[in-house]
Amino acid sequence: MQFELTEEHLAVQQAARDFAQTELLPGVIERDEHQKFPAEQVKKLGELGFMGMMVDPKYGGSGMDTISYVLAMEEISKIDASCSVVMSVNNSLVCWGLETFGNEEQKQKYLVPLAKGEIIGAFLLSEPEAGSDATSQHTTAEDKGDHYLLNGTKNWITNGNSASVYLVMAQTDAAKGHKGINALIVEKNSPGVTVGKKEDKLGIRGSDTHSIMFQDVKVTKENRIGEDGFGFKFAMKTLTGGRIGIAAQALGIASGAYELSLKYSKERKAFGTEIMNHQAIAFKLADMATEIEAARLLCFKAAWLKDQNLDYSRASSIAKLFASETAMKTAVEAVQIHGGYGYVKEYHVERLMRDAKITQIYEGTSEMQRVVISRDVLKD
Ligand code: CAA
Repeated sequence: MQFELTEEHLAVQQAARDFAQTELLPGVIERDEHQKFPAEQVKKLGELGFMGMMVDPKYGGSGMDTISYVLAMEEISKIDASCSVVMSVNNSLVCWGLETFGNEEQKQKYLVPLAKGEIIGAFLLSEPEAGSDATSQHTTAEDKGDHYLLNGTKNWITNGNSASVYLVMAQTDAAKGHKGINALIVEKNSPGVTVGKKEDKLGIRGSDTHSIMFQDVKVTKENRIGEDGFGFKFAMKTLTGGRIGIAAQALGIASGAYELSLKYSKERKAFGTEIMNHQAIAFKLADMATEIEAARLLCFKAAWLKDQNLDYSRASSIAKLFASETAMKTAVEAVQIHGGYGYVKEYHVERLMRDAKITQIYEGTSEMQRVVISRDVLKD
């Protein structure tokens, strides 16, 4: 068993850390307050090769492993989780989905610009009445011979307005249940596509989350991913990898909150000494460090299994469940350590606390991770 990172891993980690300090930290509070999408920053992430990190260089990607992706996600998320969710959806759900299940034409046309970060993608599964219960798709893709006719509404879509390419799950044959669902590549500028209002969110406020409406949108059959009826499996397999990205995002939020708390505890004095010298604070820091270390190891384990082409479904849900619970707990304690300062924007931890919450909700709630894990555990 090898716990050391390679030189390449350390270089990726350092590049992400430098990027977060120089490009993301200035302006992060303002972007959060005004719900400003980090367009320039995402463009620069693309130039760094971080929007298609794991994609084969022949399709415009960086050809890195999933461990590198976890390292980069942690560093970016420490500073700006709004930016890292854009990166995560593009890398894990859109690029990975297309590279793994798309055909050569789809890869040339869509994956190459997505992996280079020239355009952004979005993943459209959730609906007003199909969040956790993802098989209950009401959006329809009616088979019209050479094309599908798409109708319906998708909700809470990350990158909803900034994306140019949507991967849309829709029901073609309701009688077949989840086996009647297809995954379609839809260009945002297609006639009949409407971007709904931007959601006014608790956290990750810099990312753009919208509902997307489809009215009689013609989608050519060449834009279906995989065989007829593969859409639900496509979504599940893609989300399995996506959960590693969100676990790493949660890890970053937790470690960002921890690092700020450690620094503050060494500076702030109360009762005649730095607050770190009070056991009430020191024990909180010890718990944070312990849980963050465990979350990091779980992220690495899931990433390593994926890189070895081994089954990583249970591991990715375990990592996502534990890391997201750790993010929430750590961020709440970080606010507590900062006292009144923690409750104002300038000290960053209140934003991290708001951002942490979404990691327990998207790409499968904590409850859905327990569904996945318990089903797998019961097979043992
Ligand atoms: N890999 C491959 N196949 C899978 C799979 C996986 N990980 N999980 C399920 N499947 C297959 C099953 O084998 C089954 O196929 P068969 O019928 O051929 O055996 C089929 O899919 C249906 O599976 P289930 O019976 O297990 O389906 P279910 O209705 O019980 O639901 C669930 C399972 C895990 C709870 C699923 O509904 C789920 O993951 N829900 C959460 C949805 C989610 O994560 N949404 C995220 C939205 S995207 C997002 O959040 C992006 C963002 O903004 C950042």
